[in-house]
Amino acid sequence: MSIVGDSKENTKEKAIEEGFTRRVFLTFLMGVSTVMTVTPFAPMIEYFFKKPEKRGEKKKVANVSDLEEGSTTIVFFPGEETEDRTFLVHLTPEEVDQAISEGRDEFITEGFVAFNSICPHLQCPVGPPEGTPEEEEFVCPCHGGVYNKFDGTVLGGPPPAPLPAVTLEVDKQTGDIYATGMIGKVGRGRV
Ligand code: FES
Repeated sequence: MSIVGDSKENTKEKAIEEGFTRRVFLTFLMGVSTVMTVTPFAPMIEYFFKKPEKRGEKKKVANVSDLEEGSTTIVFFPGEETEDRTFLVHLTPEEVDQAISEGRDEFITEGFVAFNSICPHLQCPVGPPEGTPEEEEFVCPCHGGVYNKFDGTVLGGPPPAPLPAVTLEVDKQTGDIYATGMIGKVGRGRV
């Protein structure tokens, strides 16, 4: 009797053990298949979830004396190609005050602010602000995307992301204006 009882116990333990082993194996398989499914999309996942980083070497782009307050000029950063076309805006003190009061002064340095001009929607070149009250924003001629002049955020139209911001440094001795990096990606914006 006891031999039959032992053998029943053994069979039960074996069954439990096998069940456990199967579960571990299935969990392992699920882990492997998840890694294999996700790996090809890693760059895409990284693109969507990574904080926009700053890139580009420091480069002199203008001098304070080149731009009157309220005017915009075009400079090129980080290279000299069409995609490097950048708006450098010299804001008036009133505009700086307005930007601060609206919480849009993140990229303003000594009254200057700069954005890459390639639209993050379908990569058309965005137009500079003209300085008239109705045209104080960056407007994309292709599908009417509108961007705020102070922080490059989207005010209207289809663009999916703000314009890449070009960070600046102003040498108070010489008046030289340096671009020090770009936050976001050309044609993709600050995502
Ligand atoms: Fe600029 Fe479409 S390309 S709004």
